[in-house]
Amino acid sequence: MSKRQYKLPDNFYIGAAASAWQTEGWDGKEEGQDSYMDLWYKSTPELWHNGYGPTVATDFYNRYKEDVQLMKKSGLHSYRTSIDWSRFIINYETAEVSEVAAEYYDNLIDELIANGIEPMLCLEHYELPAELFTKYGGWGSKHVVDLYTKYVEEAFKRYSHKVKQWYTFNEPIVVQTRVFLDSIRYPFKQDTQTAMQWNYNKILATAKAVKVYKEGGYNKDGGKIGVILNPDVCYPRSTAKHDVEAAEKFDLFFNRIFLDPSIKGEIPAELFEILKEHNCCFEYTEEELEIIKDNTIDILGVNLYAPTRVKAKNLAWNPNTPFHPEYFYDKHELQGRKMNPFRGWEIYPKLMYDFAMRVKNEYGNIEWFIAENGMGVENEHKYKNEEGIIQDDYRIEFISDHLRWLIKGIEEGSNCTGYMLWAFTDNVSPQNAFKNRYGLVEINLEDNRNRKMKKSGYWYKELSEKRTFEFDDFNFEYK
Ligand code: BG6
Repeated sequence: MSKRQYKLPDNFYIGAAASAWQTEGWDGKEEGQDSYMDLWYKSTPELWHNGYGPTVATDFYNRYKEDVQLMKKSGLHSYRTSIDWSRFIINYETAEVSEVAAEYYDNLIDELIANGIEPMLCLEHYELPAELFTKYGGWGSKHVVDLYTKYVEEAFKRYSHKVKQWYTFNEPIVVQTRVFLDSIRYPFKQDTQTAMQWNYNKILATAKAVKVYKEGGYNKDGGKIGVILNPDVCYPRSTAKHDVEAAEKFDLFFNRIFLDPSIKGEIPAELFEILKEHNCCFEYTEEELEIIKDNTIDILGVNLYAPTRVKAKNLAWNPNTPFHPEYFYDKHELQGRKMNPFRGWEIYPKLMYDFAMRVKNEYGNIEWFIAENGMGVENEHKYKNEEGIIQDDYRIEFISDHLRWLIKGIEEGSNCTGYMLWAFTDNVSPQNAFKNRYGLVEINLEDNRNRKMKKSGYWYKELSEKRTFEFDDFNFEYK
């Protein structure tokens, strides 16, 4: 295979992402300041890989200065993390801010800026306060939407003069899908209507946060607000009508459900129809739909890891099964696909290009960026060289292959402005904890969580400075 040099587009940034709960640890939190993730871990620690969880995480709360220096060393232009709502607010009803937490976030933001790294802040990366989960049922409650709106305003007041990119949620579809639709996570309750209510309330919460941000004038000096979604780029098994329809239904339930209201201000009519038909529609008012219509996002963050492939359903639906979008499709495994065996995800870099074209053609070519993409690998210590540096060539290949497809999309007019790797350092995954490592920087759990840059960290730095990278030539029959 001949090699070719690829160039990052002008003004295109590269960065890395993480979240508060996956890095900070619990230091500095007071009694009662647990998040939903903390509650999940405390309720079923035995299900978390080797018992690790958010307790210490990477100890970022105490070691962020050291990490910011490593960010500089790995050439990050920007760093995305979240504010942990459960830490930042001390009284969730009144939105009284914890001054200890506020000072920590303030210092972190300053440290990033002083080192030439743009901070990008997400306002909820599953860090719903546990108290609001147990007391009100979490995002199923409209009261919680209002409490969130108060909380985000406090964050804007404190930091919007320094932080110019805000994101209302990271992957707002995930928790309720895993918890109430698929019932594979704590508290293992199945309730499709509740899952749909959480979806809707988060759509509403995004619109309300956008409204507060704009009406409060927090966007002056170029501030932007958006949401970070995880569209499942979905491919039908075949061009046959029943397979294509299966993919369309999947797309409706897992992609358009957030993409359409966030960007176009409208929840698809077909979604209302199906949910009503199956008696699991969310509660909404016309006034709320107006708020959603009038307060769309400025910018879209996109987490893209793996494709989803579906086919028409083979088996009859059990009439006693609560409604689930799988009523319409079965998952399909492409024979011969390339896999990341550790995470169980297919590797299909062309999804970058396909999604780029979709934003361009179906979503008004809104400004967007890759908010996460990356490769989690188990037992990476096996790849250490004599100096103890992990030789993660597979990660460099993964990033290069995805980046070049993204660049092709940009060259064809898609308005994508950046790429952020998941993750900066290894960190805690939901339930998988430190099993699969994603970082440019290793966290050594056996040695006091000490940090060491991997080969990919040095490569990223070079990419950031030279703005070029070498990889297989594009003009090949796709492998
Ligand atoms: C994204 C999430 O879905 O994927 C992150 O925003 C998560 O929080 C990442 O860690 C990688 O997935 P996982 O399950 O391997 O941690």
